[in-house]
Amino acid sequence: MPSRTHWKGIHTIFKRRAVNLGVDLFKAKIAELRRQIETANYNYYILDNPTISDAEYDRLMRELERLEATYPELKTADSPTQRIGNKPLDEFKTVTHRIPLLSLDNAMDEGEIREFVARVQKGLSNQDIQFVCEPKIDGLAVELVYENGVFVSGSTRGDGVTGEDITQNLKTIRSIPLRLRPNLPIPNLLEVRGEVYMDKADFQRLNEQQLREGKPPFANPRNSAAGSLRQLDPQITARRPLKIFCYALGSCNGYTFKTHYEFLKTLPPWGFRVNPLIEIATNVEALIEYYHKIESIRDAMDYDIDGVVYKVDALAQQAELGIKSRSPRWAIAGKFKAQQEVTRIINIEASVGRTGAITPVANLKPVQIGGVTVSNATLHNQDEIDRKDIRIGDWVLIQRAGDVIPQVVKVIRERRTGDEKPYKIPPNCPVCNTPLVREKDEAKHRCPNISCPAQIKASIEHFASKRAMNIDGLGDKLVEQLVDNGLIENVADLYFLSKEQLLTMERMGEKSAQNLLDAIAASKTVSLARFIYALGIRNVGEHMGKVLEKSFGTLDRLSQASEEELLAIEDIGPIVAQSIRNFFAAESNLHTIEKLIGSGIQFTTASTTPQKEGVTGKTYVFTGTLSQFTRDEAQALVEKYGGKSASSVSKKTDYVVVGENAGSKAETARRLGVKILSETEFLELIS
Ligand code: IVH
Repeated sequence: MPSRTHWKGIHTIFKRRAVNLGVDLFKAKIAELRRQIETANYNYYILDNPTISDAEYDRLMRELERLEATYPELKTADSPTQRIGNKPLDEFKTVTHRIPLLSLDNAMDEGEIREFVARVQKGLSNQDIQFVCEPKIDGLAVELVYENGVFVSGSTRGDGVTGEDITQNLKTIRSIPLRLRPNLPIPNLLEVRGEVYMDKADFQRLNEQQLREGKPPFANPRNSAAGSLRQLDPQITARRPLKIFCYALGSCNGYTFKTHYEFLKTLPPWGFRVNPLIEIATNVEALIEYYHKIESIRDAMDYDIDGVVYKVDALAQQAELGIKSRSPRWAIAGKFKAQQEVTRIINIEASVGRTGAITPVANLKPVQIGGVTVSNATLHNQDEIDRKDIRIGDWVLIQRAGDVIPQVVKVIRERRTGDEKPYKIPPNCPVCNTPLVREKDEAKHRCPNISCPAQIKASIEHFASKRAMNIDGLGDKLVEQLVDNGLIENVADLYFLSKEQLLTMERMGEKSAQNLLDAIAASKTVSLARFIYALGIRNVGEHMGKVLEKSFGTLDRLSQASEEELLAIEDIGPIVAQSIRNFFAAESNLHTIEKLIGSGIQFTTASTTPQKEGVTGKTYVFTGTLSQFTRDEAQALVEKYGGKSASSVSKKTDYVVVGENAGSKAETARRLGVKILSETEFLELIS
């Protein structure tokens, strides 16, 4: 008989095995998830060929995060979960580069490119020479260090000899591999250099966000990339849309290259992103041609470049030419014309956007920037004018980048004479003279008048839209024509249009004119909630329309509600309360409403709402695809009979209508004991 201790021993071994087996299983699962995520990243960023949806990517990430949280011992520094950003640092550590990062000499024109080629030819005693031509990315140079294939540290260029350790921030950039892909042998040490940058479109979005949040905008994509990389809190960097192009080799042990081009070709299989516009050239004419070609597409490119770079391709020839002080003799930058120029602000004007936002615009003494005449620059908002202390008459540095609206980088204070005049956005709208408003937490001033000629088209488009007054057939093109031909000046004019007037419009026949008039007439009977939404009060969406109808019952009461009365309502915060007050404080809006009511608009109320058993007063949730209606139509039907529709199932839900491919909502309904209807059953109830 085996002894007790013997059994215990076997038991412990089994238990340990079982635990190990479990961990092993998850280890394999984790490895597989990492492989799938890394492959998705590689396909997306390096091959520019996405293979899975964002939703699928997020699902894989979440699953990996969950497993790593359960088995923290399986977490590794190169896991894709480590990109989200570590704890903030107190300061960046300094690192010394193993090999200094050199800078480049500049060739300012064609002549200087020719001189460079002649120098190289002389230095190499007329050997055959091949050049690699690359765009010069306008970002921030960084160095990435890989030990045995794993990303271990990364730094800024700094002064070329020492830089700052920004490893945590670089890890958040998805186009930087955390581990080399094993498509090729893995060197035990590899240092890759490249440029971190931000796409122009991402830069613009980021700046719009900065302005919305009342923060100073960045002057250009380069500054915003630099600012994002030098954040002590990697979580902030993680939210910035940074990218990288790799273009140079530092130290390398365990892999050899004969040419620079061969090195560039090796980078993508390892997982590095390389610029697709790189070319080989074998004579000076080809170098010049490349310069003109890249310059001609500069504005259309997704990112900023400030020139091209030419490099002697053969590494042996590079070594033979050597370096002089800080720059190599084997490479040169062919610089493009500057995107910045100095000129003078002649005047500042407030321009009114389609939605009433006021943007101060500087009228400039016309100046050529990168081959384009610039005569206006945006000043964004009053805070920006104050922050940069921009005055009428100032000499300023203007920057233009592609189709981005030119901006003022800074005032040249040394050129002030004392005659410059400070500028304040005027108190009234320059187009319709309505007093301007500036709401809490808003950087921009606004014209609150929905009939302001600058905003009238946008107001009418919104008013007529499906979820507002639902005027079928009144599309954006027709609104444009009606306004441009002077037939309507505000939304109320819609209700006074005649068929004769409509027939004068392009492509408008008898039948479509009649259909439109019918649709306009039909829109006169409407719920107060929809009408409130249709008015286009800032920050008042569909849901708020319903809240306001429920709380005030009539338009009169709403228009007279004080800020305190509005704030007393649960769903209304100070921003919405202020927007509502500003709207009704504008005289012209009151006139428009008066005219609308005068045209015969009638509000459906509870007493005029048709009743239907099983619908009136009931809450519905729709899930899956319905065959007879769209989800909006089904919801409208329920609302027509005084029922409500909600987006999620709770105990308060009365019915869940289940269409094709219904998901978890049906299950929740079952769990909560909420009644489930098929589409046919719903049809029977409602018809
Ligand atoms: S090669 C020895 N290639 O330009 C060669 N630099 O003015 C070192 N840059 O510090 C750099 N695009 O930040 C190289 N395709 C490219 C580049 C590039 C942008 C930047 C880099 C460098 C600066 C030199």
